[in-house]
Amino acid sequence: MMFPSDVYTDRRMRLKKELGSGLVLFPANFEVSLNYPANTYSYRQDSHFSYFFGLNHPDYIGIVDVDADKDYLFGDDIDIEDIIWMGDLPTVAEQAGQAGVRETGTLSSALAMLKAAVKKGQKIHFLPPYRSEVKLALSDWLDIPVRELKERSSPELIRAVVKLKEIKDALEVAEIEKAVDVAYLMHTTGMKLCFPGIVEQEVAGTMEGIALALAGPVSFPVILSMDGQTLHNHHHGNTLKEGRLVVMDAGCETQLLYASDITRTVPVGGKFSQRQKEVYQAVLDANMAVIRELKPGIRYFDMHMLAARTLVTGLKAIGLMKGDVDEAVAAGAHTLFFPHGLGHMLGMDVHDLEGLGENNVGYDETISRATAFGTAYLRLAKTLKPGFVLTIEPGCYFIPALIDKFRAEKKFTDFINYDLVETYKDFGGIRIEDDALITANGSRILGKPIPKTIADVERTMTAPREWVKVPGLI
Ligand code: GLY
Ligand code: MN
Ligand code: MN
Repeated sequence: MMFPSDVYTDRRMRLKKELGSGLVLFPANFEVSLNYPANTYSYRQDSHFSYFFGLNHPDYIGIVDVDADKDYLFGDDIDIEDIIWMGDLPTVAEQAGQAGVRETGTLSSALAMLKAAVKKGQKIHFLPPYRSEVKLALSDWLDIPVRELKERSSPELIRAVVKLKEIKDALEVAEIEKAVDVAYLMHTTGMKLCFPGIVEQEVAGTMEGIALALAGPVSFPVILSMDGQTLHNHHHGNTLKEGRLVVMDAGCETQLLYASDITRTVPVGGKFSQRQKEVYQAVLDANMAVIRELKPGIRYFDMHMLAARTLVTGLKAIGLMKGDVDEAVAAGAHTLFFPHGLGHMLGMDVHDLEGLGENNVGYDETISRATAFGTAYLRLAKTLKPGFVLTIEPGCYFIPALIDKFRAEKKFTDFINYDLVETYKDFGGIRIEDDALITANGSRILGKPIPKTIADVERTMTAPREWVKVPGLI
C-alpha cells in the first residue's frame, strides 16, 4: 500500500529545493535476525525512506541527486528461488514507478555511484543511522568509521527533513486518524478487561492483537500496568486487584507506517474510588485545559506550564500541595508528580523525528532546553504551526523513591504536604493522552473520541465488547 506516486515525487522535489546541492542517500532498512540468521524480526521500513520512496521493501537504496535533479531507486530483482519461497514481486523498475522514480539500477550500481560521488568530492547527505546493519553498510559504502557516522551526518538534511515532515498533509492526517480509530478499539476493549483476577498480560496482549488484526503492529511496546508510577512500564505480570488503577499506553501503526499513541487510566473493577476520582479529575482538567488553548503561534512549553498549573490547582484542592500555584510551578514543585513533558510530535514514528535529535525537532529559536529536573525532559517545547500532529499527555504519579528523595532533601516544603503525600505511596499513577492536529486557527483531537471522563470510563468498562473495522485499513 502506498500513497499516489506524485506524493513521493513532490516530497523529493521539495527536499531538493530545501537542500540546493549534493546527493542524498536514503538506505532502506535491512532484515534483522532475531535468534538465528533466517528467523528475522518483523520487517519495519525506515520511516525516512518510506516518506520519500514509499516502498516497504528491505535492502533498497534511494538516492536523490540534487545537483542533477534526478531520483534513483536501486535494488536487485528477485530470482526463481525468491519466487518459490516468498512469491512473485513486481520488478524494481515497476516498483520505482509506484514512487514516481524513473532511474533505477542494481545495488552494485548504487555503490558505484556512491564511490564516484565520493571520488569527485560531491557532498553526500545522510541522516544519523540508528540500526547496526545500516551503520555497517554506510561505513562500508562511504568509507567512514562507524563511530564517526553520527557527527558526519548532514545537519542541512536533518533541518530539511524536519521542516518537511513536521507538517502533516491531509493524507497523512487521515492515516494517523485511522491509527487512532484502531486505538479506540484497543483501549475500550482493554478497559472492559480490567477486572480483578485478570493478569495484565491478558489485557496488553488483547490490545496488541487488535492492533495486528485491524491495522499493523503496535507503534511501541505496550505500556500497561497497575504500577503506573513507573512511566514506561513494560512488565505485565501483575494480577489485577480491586482498588488499584491501570495505566494503559498503547497505539498502532497503519500499513503506511503512521502511528497513534493513546493513554487511558482505569480503575480495576470499573468504579473509581473517591481518592482516585480526585487525582484523575486533576489530570483530566490539565488535559482539557491544554486542548482548549491549543493553537498555532503558541509555544508547547507554555502549554506544558498550563498543564502544570492546572494539575497543581487540583492537587491543592485535594491537600497534596499548598501555597501559590504560580510560585509552586515556577519553583518546579509540580515535578514531584509530573516529571515528564506534556507531549511530542507524532507521525511515522511515535516520537516523530526524534531520531534526528530531540533538540532539532522539539526546540527552535524561540526556546532552548531548560536544565532543571522535570522541565529539562520536555521533548517538544517550540512554537506550534498548522499541520503539526502532537500528543497531549499530562500525568500525575506517586513515585515512592522520588517522594523519599525530595522529602529527605527538604525540597519544595512550602508547596508539598509530604505527610499526606506519604499516604498516596500505594496509589500508582495516572496519565491521559490524546493525539491532536494543529489547524489554521486552533486544534482538533484526532480520531473517534476515546472515553476519558470519569462517567464515560466507568460506563465503557461495563458496556458490551465491540469489534469495529476502520475503513481504509483492512
Ligand atoms: N508511548 C510513550 C509516550 O507516550 O510517549
Ligand atoms: Mn503514549
Ligand atoms: Mn506519547
